Amino acid sequence: MKVGVIGTGYVGLVVGACLAETGNDVICADIVENKIARLNRGEVPIYEPGLEPLIERNVTAERLSFTTDVRHTVRASDILFIAVGTPPGEDGSADLQHVLAVARSIGEAMQGEKIVITKSTVPVGTAELVRKEILAHTDCMVHVCSNPEFLKEGAAVDDFMKPDRVVLGVDSEFAAETLRELYAPFVRSGAQILTMDVPAAEITKYAANAMLATRISFMNAIAQLCEKAGASVDAVRRGIGTDGRIGSSFLFPGIGYGGSCFPKDVKALVRTMREVGADASILEAVEAVNERQKRLLLEGLTTRLGEDLSGRTIAVWGLAFKPNTDDMREAPSLVTIEGLLERGARVVAHDPVAMDEARGHFGDRIEYVASDYAAIEGADALVIHTEWLPYRRPDFERVKKGLKAPIIFDGRNLYDPERMAVLGFEYHSVGRRPVGEAS
Ligand SMILES: NC(=O)c1ccc[n+]([C@@H]2O[C@H](COP(=O)([O-])OP(=O)(O)OC[C@H]3O[C@@H](n4cnc5c(N)ncnc54)[C@H](O)[C@@H]3O)[C@@H](O)[C@H]2O)c1
Repeated sequence: MKVGVIGTGYVGLVVGACLAETGNDVICADIVENKIARLNRGEVPIYEPGLEPLIERNVTAERLSFTTDVRHTVRASDILFIAVGTPPGEDGSADLQHVLAVARSIGEAMQGEKIVITKSTVPVGTAELVRKEILAHTDCMVHVCSNPEFLKEGAAVDDFMKPDRVVLGVDSEFAAETLRELYAPFVRSGAQILTMDVPAAEITKYAANAMLATRISFMNAIAQLCEKAGASVDAVRRGIGTDGRIGSSFLFPGIGYGGSCFPKDVKALVRTMREVGADASILEAVEAVNERQKRLLLEGLTTRLGEDLSGRTIAVWGLAFKPNTDDMREAPSLVTIEGLLERGARVVAHDPVAMDEARGHFGDRIEYVASDYAAIEGADALVIHTEWLPYRRPDFERVKKGLKAPIIFDGRNLYDPERMAVLGFEYHSVGRRPVGEAS
């Protein structure tokens, strides 16, 4: 099939490469010239495991190409995915300007029948706006469908290749058949293709992310109770996660959800629900808990070391909002580090892949070091934001020797508190009583 993907970011690039891998001819278009130039030089602008060889293989096989020419992409493709960003507007609603700009470009360029699919996460009713925008510029037949994307950054290629399910919101049997055929290679091991009406597909994406965010905030609220009551949150997590009705995923307490999706999608869903008069209070609470959680490390540090942190050095392990990605959008590390800088601290940070990204946020206001152990040399405390694998089993003797005082604030509960106490650390984690406190 001839496929065009408009918007070559995290989602567009992965979708384009994976669809090329199954034999389709795919053109990925973007308006950012530098991004397309880099891709055409064989550079992959994002860190995503497995993506680089996939792109290389399909470019070499001439099934995948990159361009800034959206008009050509529209004309050369039968199926067009819109995969541009939908950032939060000032009021929290999804900003649809990029989606509608692409719809206009499609309408202006198309010369024959097309299937247009919103891959971007968009509020219910957007497909109809896209249809209107396209039809304002053409008389050609257009099918507008919704095919929300559930991939996770850090495992995006795997998620797309082996989805739990594919959700297709369709407006015609022709579109349904074509998209089922397009996705058939990805569901051979039994995953379902769920065909539904377009508004249901649009809502499904937000409902999925809001449910996952709710589980995280729920567990963080329970973690607060555990900490105050002196109970082990790990035991409680296992106690509920083994209930078949609940399941164990997304129940780890921590310093809150971040990234490019959960925060903006929960906000946008709250906005949509308010607009239509639905009760959004459950999601408002989810957001409030998350905001509090993101400040946890900073509050812990200032409670321990004082509000004035001038003359203090804080080592930071982990900048990305989660492991296996360099994405720092809405990362809890941004909140901690800005707070530390405001209070005069010197911050020395390490992350296996997100340090370039961090430079965009902090410039030279913080120091970046190439190894995790270099970060802790002479620091007054170590703060952990991201559960990267190498941070899970460090050489604790080396960590202790490097730090001025053996104080760790762990936002991801990587270590066993009892063991940390035995090792001589003062260890603060989430939903568990601190151990080894100095006073
Ligand atoms: N990142 C994720 O993990 C993820 C997962 C599922 C769904 N989504 C959704 O997918 C959409 C895209 O997310 P992303 O993370 O890939 O965003 P991104 O910001 O990484 O990429 C968007 C791309 O669209 C390009 N673009 C903007 N306007 C354009 C135009 N008029 N024509 C051509 N290109 C244009 C931008 O230059 C950018 O490269 C969002 O709606 C997001 O919510 C993201």
